[in-house]
Amino acid sequence: MQTKLEEFKALATYVSGGYEDSPSFENLNKNLETIEQGHQTPECNRMFYLALPPTVFIPVAKHLKEQCYSRHGINRIIIEKPFGKDLDSARELLNSVKQYWKEDETFRIDHYLGKEMVKNLLVLRFANVALNAGWDKNSISNVQITFKEPFGTEGRGGYFDEFGIVRDILQNHLMQVLSILTMERPVSFEAEDIRDEKVKVLRAIPPVERSDTLLGQYVAANGKPGYLDDSTVPPNSNCPTYAATTLWINNPRWEGVPFILKAGKALNEAKVEIRIQFKDVTQGIFKDISRNELVMRIQPSEAVYLKLNTKTPGLYTRAIPTEMDLTYKRRFADAKIPEAYESLILDALKGDHSNFVRDDELDVAWKIFTPILHWIDGKSGPGPKPVPYPYGSRGPKELDAFITKYGYKRSQVGYSWPITSVSNL
Ligand code: BG6
Repeated sequence: MQTKLEEFKALATYVSGGYEDSPSFENLNKNLETIEQGHQTPECNRMFYLALPPTVFIPVAKHLKEQCYSRHGINRIIIEKPFGKDLDSARELLNSVKQYWKEDETFRIDHYLGKEMVKNLLVLRFANVALNAGWDKNSISNVQITFKEPFGTEGRGGYFDEFGIVRDILQNHLMQVLSILTMERPVSFEAEDIRDEKVKVLRAIPPVERSDTLLGQYVAANGKPGYLDDSTVPPNSNCPTYAATTLWINNPRWEGVPFILKAGKALNEAKVEIRIQFKDVTQGIFKDISRNELVMRIQPSEAVYLKLNTKTPGLYTRAIPTEMDLTYKRRFADAKIPEAYESLILDALKGDHSNFVRDDELDVAWKIFTPILHWIDGKSGPGPKPVPYPYGSRGPKELDAFITKYGYKRSQVGYSWPITSVSNL
């Protein structure tokens, strides 16, 4: 490992310069040419990765095109989010970058698309008749897509306060998960076929309503500082560090099913998961029986498990909740799961756009969130005040009532994990 690292470091060079300064880019180009002189083929492919503040995307994209574009090979540019702050600014950014870089040269990265379990969604959904059969409003009551982080802004408040949790997590990472979870079967696994289906389902989602939104901000607790105690955060900021929003998909498959997207910082645990709760079984033969749930844990420790009712082993006939569990660590002994960025950078090198965000995908995701973002920012009248929640808690205390309103039932009578003792039942 150490040798590999040293080999890698020996390949790296560093050129310093200004983002808006032509001579700096000429200098960078000279440096690239020097490296390329050592190549055995005349072909010189270049990939530029912009991990930069969005304010300098445009000048850097322009200079790279004008001063550093390879005339003898393939050129690609990778851009990190945030791609804009709302629909108008995202369109401006998209159009400006397009003046210099073609769509097929541009790779908009959302690292959630490189996560193993997110990639597995396509296989779980379309390679399993058993799962696919109940994948609609007839069987599913509600869906939660949850992102929880156990730390606050911790010095990153300057960036965060400008964007807030909705732009940081919901509008991109969770929307990507939602679109793959709900899209129709693509014609093939080709990038454009997948992205066509994602855009189609996103277009069936109306903008989020204020009444379907719960916003929170963490306050000091458990010896940890509150959001407003972070010196990089402006005093009295109303920026939400927690958001739950419910989205609706107006198509025949999903009509009436609430999709609850929840994300928060400074919570009690680190977890990202999709929880699909199925409807109640027909009443009459069982009383207080748990609902089935299919949970896909994206991180940590990738897992898919289906909560299902089973007869208590023994002489009695009584249903108890248990689960069928596919925990990767146990099932795949020697699997090495790459980091999301590793897998995405490799895709970009190969020119595969499947796991990158297309321009129209971004546009439609911004359309869904722009009205509530303008409300949060106070651009359409007085902005909302997020409710407080203690650092290290599950989130705002209003959360349970919020998810119950959309039909989620916490029905776990007799459920204990990972082992149930039958004699206690
Ligand atoms: C980034 C956000 O996009 O995703 C961060 O800007 C967040 O605020 C991070 O912490 C989470 O990524 P991961 O892979 O740790 O879930």
